[in-house]
Amino acid sequence: MKLNPRKAMALALLGAAWLVPPTGAAWAQTPAPATFSPPDEAAMPAGPFGDAVKLGENIFRNTPKYAPQFTGNTLSCDNCHMNGGRLANSSPMWAAYVAYPAYRSKNKKVNTFGQRLQGCFRFSENGKAPPLDSKVMVALESYSFWLSTNAPTGAKMAGRGYPKLAKPAEAPSYQRGQVVYAQNCSLCHGANGAGAAAHGAVVFPGVWGKDSYNWGAGMSAINNAADFIHANMPLGLAGTLSAQQAWDVAAYIDSQDRPQDPRFTGSVAATRAKFHNNAFSLYGTTVNGHVLGAAAQ
Ligand code: HEC
Ligand code: HEC
Repeated sequence: MKLNPRKAMALALLGAAWLVPPTGAAWAQTPAPATFSPPDEAAMPAGPFGDAVKLGENIFRNTPKYAPQFTGNTLSCDNCHMNGGRLANSSPMWAAYVAYPAYRSKNKKVNTFGQRLQGCFRFSENGKAPPLDSKVMVALESYSFWLSTNAPTGAKMAGRGYPKLAKPAEAPSYQRGQVVYAQNCSLCHGANGAGAAAHGAVVFPGVWGKDSYNWGAGMSAINNAADFIHANMPLGLAGTLSAQQAWDVAAYIDSQDRPQDPRFTGSVAATRAKFHNNAFSLYGTTVNGHVLGAAAQ
């Protein structure tokens, strides 16, 4: 995996001793490798189109800095769509771009690629949807279009999204997840879930709390979180958690307080009934005597 210098440094600081797989980890099956490769960075075109592509990459890799008016937390697109949206099985942009327009049950309409991007701004970035003709949107679309150079339109590309994990043998458990988190995640993401920053730059993104994704985000559903975590975390040791551990730790982080769902109707129960009425969202349920969403930040 190619890390940017900031992350490589952070990993080096953590020390090699840590890079030992968790004991008892089942080495899960790795999904079929993607056959598509996006163009090299060096092949980025010059001229006005190249400028838009470069701006799009900058926004993607550091969203709070390059699109502050649309970002409500400290997350960047790159935190969940890793390696600048290039990494297969980390919901890469080259596989997404060629898959739209498409119907989404989340908003019950056919979405263009731009409308799909707006969704991640509103929920994952806890921000505001950039207008479809804004400079930010044009740049992100240019970058994604360029990454998908020579990809077939409408094809189902291997490596799209996060590989779907099988249902867990046992119901996801907060208690077991808490142990998985303490042993495999808190070193980087913090015991309080807030992540870590150095010199004003995010080194490890938060996984809950006010600077995290909100209750409307895809990652707040434990199936999406388990899929992402199993394929991509712990950073540098992806694939070392068992499927059960990934489900358990997903249930643990998605049982913590985070920003309110922007579709909030005024009541947690009504918001759950309208938007979260499924087994994967813990919003509005009671965990450890605490109604999730009631103390949303
Ligand atoms: C907190 C994690 C997170 C962040 C930050 C995030 N996303 Fe996403 N994104 C997801 C998840 C999870 C999904 C898929 C699950 C779903 O359907 O909601 C997704 C889906 C997408 C898709 C559709 C992928 C496909 O194959 O259909 C696009 C496009 C996308 N995101 C773009 C972005 C952009 C651009 C940004 C930054 C402005 C961003 N995302 C920030 C988590 C995130
Ligand atoms: C060595 C440090 C490290 C460890 C250990 C680690 N992560 Fe991460 N995690 C990161 C970094 C860095 C990113 C952002 C990836 C990027 O930008 O390329 C990230 C991203 C994430 C994200 C998506 C972004 C966000 O903040 O919501 C989630 C969720 C996540 N990690 C969960 C976990 C879980 C659960 C574990 C334990 C099983 C774990 N991580 C272990 C460093 C780590």
